[in-house]
Amino acid sequence: MRVIIKDDKQAVAEWAAQYVAYKINQFKPTAKRPFVLGLPTGSTPLGMYNELIKMFRAGKVSFANVVTFNMDEYIGLAPNHPQSYHYFMQENFFKHIDIKPNNTHILDGLTKNYAKECADFEFEMRRLGGVNLFIGGVGEDGHIAFNEPFSSLRSRTRVKTLTESTIKANSRFFGGDLKKVPTQALTVGIQTIMDAQEVMILATGANKATALKHGIEGAVSHVWTISALQEHPHGIIVCDKDATQALESQTAAYFLEVEKNNF
Ligand code: GLP
Repeated sequence: MRVIIKDDKQAVAEWAAQYVAYKINQFKPTAKRPFVLGLPTGSTPLGMYNELIKMFRAGKVSFANVVTFNMDEYIGLAPNHPQSYHYFMQENFFKHIDIKPNNTHILDGLTKNYAKECADFEFEMRRLGGVNLFIGGVGEDGHIAFNEPFSSLRSRTRVKTLTESTIKANSRFFGGDLKKVPTQALTVGIQTIMDAQEVMILATGANKATALKHGIEGAVSHVWTISALQEHPHGIIVCDKDATQALESQTAAYFLEVEKNNF
C-alpha cells in the first residue's frame, strides 16, 4: 500500500485531482474504451472535485470518455433531495464538466427491487471491463462506502443498515437532526471496491486518525473495513498530517521518505 502524506487538505485535494487526471490522460480513453472511475461523496472529496473542475476548464482533462460509478446512495431519498448522493454529484461535479449523463451511474435509492438494482450495478461494471480507479473517503469508524464495521470483506453491492455513529456523523448534513438521516443505504461492497485495478482512499482531519491507524498499521479485519486495502495490489491512501496523528512516528516517517519524489 502507498500512503501519501500532505500538509493539509488542500494539498490532498490537489494531489488526488492531479493523479486522477494523469490516470485518465495516460489511459487515452475513447467512446469504445472508456476510463471507468469509482466515485465517493462526503466532505473529503469536495476539494478534489473542485480541482478537477479547474483542470477541466483549463483543458488539462476531459471526462467525455469517462464512465463513473458512485459508491453509495441513501435509501428513500429522491435524486432531487439536496442530501441525496445524486444531487451531491450533480451539484458538486457533473454539471461542471463534460461527462455524458448516460455515463454516470448512481444506485437508485427509491428502487422497489434492491436485489436487481444492486446486481445490475455490478453487472454494468463488469460489462465495461471493471473499474480502473476507485476513489473513496473513510468514515470515523473506518468504513469505506457504507461498509460499516463487520461488513464482509467479500461483500458486493447490497443494502446496509447504518450504524448510530455514522448516522450521528452524517446528521450534520441534515441540520443536525438524527431523525432525518436515512437508516439504510445501497452501497458497493468491499469486494466490489477491491476488484478495481487501483483504489485511492482520501482522509483528512484528526477525526480520521484512528481509522487510518487501524487501516494502515492494524490487521486486515472486518472491524475496520478500510484495512481491506492492505490486500489490494494497488492501494493508495492520500491523507493530511492531521489524519496521521495516531500513526507510529516510524510509519509516517517511512512513507514520507519513500514517497518524497513520487507522484
Ligand atoms: C459517508 C459516506 C462515505 C464517506 C464518509 C465520510 O458515510 N458513505 O463514502 O467516506 O461518509 O465522509 P466525510 O468525507 O464527509 O468525512
